[in-house]
Amino acid sequence: MSKEVKIIFQPSGRIVHALPGTVILEAAALAGFIIHTPCGGTGKCAKCIILIRNGKCPATEQELTALGKARTEEGFRLACLARITGPITIEIPENSLFQTHQKILTGDTGETRDVNPRVRKTVIQIPPLSPHETRSDLERLQAAGVSVPLTFLALQSLPNVLRSSNGLLTVVQADQDVIALEPGDTSSSCYGIAFDIGSTTLVGTLVDLLTGIDIAVAARVNPQTSFGDDVISRIQKCRGEKGGLMQLQSAILDGINRIIDELERKTRISRLSVYEVVFAGNTTMQQMLCGIDPSALGELPFTPAFRDALEFTARDLPLHVHPCAKITVFPQIGGFVGGDTTAGIVATRLDRTTEPTLLVDIGTNGEIVLKHGSLLLATSVAAGPAFEGARITNGMRATSGAIEKVILDGDVKLNVIGNTKPAGLCGTGLIDIAAELLRVGILDVTGRILPPDEIPATLPSALRDRLVADKGETHFLLVPKTESATGSPIFLYQRDIRELQLANAAIRAGINILLKMAGLEASQLGAILLAGGFGNFIRRNHARRIGMLPPIPCDKIRFVGNTSSFGAKRVLLSTQEKDYAARVVGQVRHVDLSLDPDFHLEFSNSMLFPEAE
Ligand code: FES
Repeated sequence: MSKEVKIIFQPSGRIVHALPGTVILEAAALAGFIIHTPCGGTGKCAKCIILIRNGKCPATEQELTALGKARTEEGFRLACLARITGPITIEIPENSLFQTHQKILTGDTGETRDVNPRVRKTVIQIPPLSPHETRSDLERLQAAGVSVPLTFLALQSLPNVLRSSNGLLTVVQADQDVIALEPGDTSSSCYGIAFDIGSTTLVGTLVDLLTGIDIAVAARVNPQTSFGDDVISRIQKCRGEKGGLMQLQSAILDGINRIIDELERKTRISRLSVYEVVFAGNTTMQQMLCGIDPSALGELPFTPAFRDALEFTARDLPLHVHPCAKITVFPQIGGFVGGDTTAGIVATRLDRTTEPTLLVDIGTNGEIVLKHGSLLLATSVAAGPAFEGARITNGMRATSGAIEKVILDGDVKLNVIGNTKPAGLCGTGLIDIAAELLRVGILDVTGRILPPDEIPATLPSALRDRLVADKGETHFLLVPKTESATGSPIFLYQRDIRELQLANAAIRAGINILLKMAGLEASQLGAILLAGGFGNFIRRNHARRIGMLPPIPCDKIRFVGNTSSFGAKRVLLSTQEKDYAARVVGQVRHVDLSLDPDFHLEFSNSMLFPEAE
């Protein structure tokens, strides 16, 4: 039987043990390092590079092809392919890490919410025990006015609670159950947590259920990203691997429980005072959280396992909160339009708007909802990971070192996250550079970067000098090697523009189809609400310039924050909001674009960038 071997990760020096044959990606996850895996660990993107500092780790054929002979001889490997064969020391370069300090949108619109939660506390005084008492403890509790049933755990605690507090105790009731009995008066301590569970990030907000006030927020990268950046690769893991679902469920639960631990550390509020938790996320995340196989979402007709909200208790998962805490998982609309979209409608009151309004959440999976009259149409499009920097040659997530803003003003002006040297281009930077190149005439509407002899003669030489012709294509130099964090130049390549066009066209085609179904022109839209992490960091005029959004005035395009989180908080705080979410799901018509013959036509039309207005 093989024995586990020692693996040292540098530069931290963290040590783990694993069996020979373990893929380095998994060993890194054991050590708490999440490596960037845009292609889902299939060896195709070469973004998960690590360096073997000591020990043996033979390169595979695929690694030789992806990295080249010279780099493999230096010790570079792909974490998703390389396997442990014996004791080893591995360095994980900063660029390969899926850093936790990436830009995560935790805020919402900050509007006030109704406060009428499922959980409430009542303080009661049980008369002292007389020597002639013949009633049971439970009968004495009932005589004091507690008429609803006790959970088994609450019943188990009853004798001790009654006797440790001279009969003064707090009854914690959720819906029609007493979920806990606490000695003394704990009525001022009653909390819940609202979670936004995204494919990329997890955000938890600790909320005071008495006042409705947010106490603290904590966010982390979803540990499932070690198994692939997009939901499709994770669904495939469930379909193709025995135990795959269990691994993915443990990963997301681990991330959620770490957030709960962090909230406790930050606030010193005991996790046992958390009696309710609400989750809103996309269909795949919600199912994986509950341990429900999402395989059916990987094939037509993309059927979710449930539509109505799910309810159970914290012990069923388990979560690091009160074991009898009530858990709610948001109702889902259909296909890939999940609980986060329902939460978005609840948060923005989209169904109550009086003018035609679009709600757009742009991500690897883009969700679009259109409200017009009594119609509520919702769809999702696979935008792919370009907006997250994947499949872009010098792409990266919106983390430290990412170029997030580009202006062409005589020359290139950049804004880099963390004010450090640039290391790559994130989604907002990609949209900016495309919009700016279109504006100055370096990029044409077909998406071709023009060679120096075709660009306007009036263009400043500083910009002209950045064009590099290579094998019939032109690349645009964003950052010379002397100024980049990696020591290599950062180019925008022709193929990067093609990836952007694909992602862009998917979103716009989805919008166009919904407008068409509602019989609306884009100009009739009263508002576009941009939700989610990415949507809230993009520049509206640039999103319009590249055609991602219809040409409506920028002041009608509004950022609405993390609506998934905000909707979850509304439901956490009010049973009426929970009923409202259930009603909304019944009103929305799910539009499955995979079955729509117009989608492909709209998609190819949207591949062209619009002419200048
Ligand atoms: S090559 Fe390893 S994750 Fe893509």
